[in-house]
Amino acid sequence: MIILSTLIISTVVCSGISIVFYSLYNGISPMPTSSKVKHQVLDVLSENETQGTIYELGSGWGTLAFAIAKRFPKCQVIAYENSLVPYIYTQIYKFFIRTNNLNIKRENFFNALLSQANTIVCYLSTDIMVRLQPKLASELQKETLVVTNTFALPSWTPQQTIETEDLYRTKIHIYVNQNKAKKNRR
Ligand SMILES: C[S@@+](CC[C@H](N)C(=O)[O-])C[C@H]1O[C@@H](n2cnc3c(N)ncnc32)[C@H](O)[C@@H]1O
Repeated sequence: MIILSTLIISTVVCSGISIVFYSLYNGISPMPTSSKVKHQVLDVLSENETQGTIYELGSGWGTLAFAIAKRFPKCQVIAYENSLVPYIYTQIYKFFIRTNNLNIKRENFFNALLSQANTIVCYLSTDIMVRLQPKLASELQKETLVVTNTFALPSWTPQQTIETEDLYRTKIHIYVNQNKAKKNRR
């Protein structure tokens, strides 16, 4: 009994430390998208007739990634998450619900090449959007759809910004990349 409780307490403490470590490292915690915003993002993707490969940058506990994979079974969803605990949680969840069109990678998305994406979805932070913008500009193919939750790309002009009917009037920014990719091979 003592061994079991020690094991449980150690797991909880280590998980907490890991979550705090990666939140500080990334500059953002794995805070999930709310249900209203999730449905709004799914509707935006449907209205834009999303096809092909959808990348989610920073998938956290999988709130959006699983919902996107379910709504778009013909699309391949590739999600990146480098925080260990949320990543393990999503792998366990995926094992039980068997989502074949979702691939969650434990990787820093700044090290991944994004040129295969037809659509990018993310919910990050102001600082990360500043760093992400030049990467998107140099790697994305022309016409790639970029949907950002709350935080805008600082100098891209959104095609549309939608306000969700939630307490915070959360904004969803919709961009269509007009740049031609400079990098398209690894
Ligand atoms: C605010 S949460 C959003 C989670 C999920 N996308 C959602 O909407 O529910 C942001 C997530 O991005 C992850 N993240 C931030 N920077 C990252 C990076 N460079 N590579 C991989 N994951 C990152 C964080 O660990 C966190 O889980």
